[in-house]
Amino acid sequence: MNVPEVVLTDPGALAEQLAADVRAGLTATRKTLPSKYLYDAHGSELFDQITRLPQYYPTRAERAILEAHAADIARVTGARSLVELGSGTSEKTRLLLGALRDAGTLESFIPFDVDPAVLKDASSAVAGEFPGVLVEPVVGDFDRHLGELPRHPGRLVAFLGSTIGNLDPAQRAGFFADVRSILRPGDAFLLGTDLVKPVERLIAAYDDAQGVTAAFDKNVLAVVNRDLDGDFDLDAFEHRAVWDAEHERIEMRLQSSREQVVQVCGLGLEVHFAQHEEMRTEISSKFRRATVEAELAAAGLLLTQWWTDPPGDFALSLSVPG
Ligand code: AVJ
Repeated sequence: MNVPEVVLTDPGALAEQLAADVRAGLTATRKTLPSKYLYDAHGSELFDQITRLPQYYPTRAERAILEAHAADIARVTGARSLVELGSGTSEKTRLLLGALRDAGTLESFIPFDVDPAVLKDASSAVAGEFPGVLVEPVVGDFDRHLGELPRHPGRLVAFLGSTIGNLDPAQRAGFFADVRSILRPGDAFLLGTDLVKPVERLIAAYDDAQGVTAAFDKNVLAVVNRDLDGDFDLDAFEHRAVWDAEHERIEMRLQSSREQVVQVCGLGLEVHFAQHEEMRTEISSKFRRATVEAELAAAGLLLTQWWTDPPGDFALSLSVPG
């Protein structure tokens, strides 16, 4: 089934954003590349493989919570419209959609993602599986376009997968405030957060022995090479996963194996790397109930439910405008 999507992004603006972000990151004293550029078609495929690695527990843990509690979420919210931010393949979302349909309240589904190709496939599949449900896909970026999403009554806004962990505390505060600003009385916000746990398990999840996460991490270099005419040698960098105990987050870093100079012709930039210099490519914050509750409260969102999987690896929380 073909479902027409609304496009809020403009390709020119996206290209400019990439150029500005990469320039800022590569010229900083401590180099960084934003994690959102990990996800081109190849990166999304690698992430999909990560979700099936035995060491990468978050996807399975979140699915287990949805399997156990989707019916509770449907009953508590009585949602008529499900808005999914960063929907991707909407794979786990089907559990929510099924529960809302079974509860008899579901009218519409608005998957929202920056990748039009993934969105198209997911929307067609969901429209086929849930006849009678209005599917309105929107291509956009959650840090710019939240206010432009369709406003059906009785909305449940979901942000799953602990993607929130990729934002630093200031960015999270801005994001929660944006979510709060689009919720009306009766609406709710469902958030997936990965939880703090022993470091060994975290490192294994973010530096798997099979090397899939390493390939995923290095793919950001291939994105810069392709889109900004760079000459990064992917073999001259090593993937590292480092636990930052102070901020309770995993950092993915690419470490330069040798001293080297990289050209990014699209930016007219020459970038020097010292031997063993590290460049941060992602933060993946891990949470505790108290901090999630406090961050939501600071944005005017009242946490009403908190569900975890039996081992307590991951949490889904429900909050409402307070
Ligand atoms: C998709 C952002 C939730 O942080 O766990 C997986 C991305 N990075 N392995 C995460 C990721 C390395 C993932 N998120």
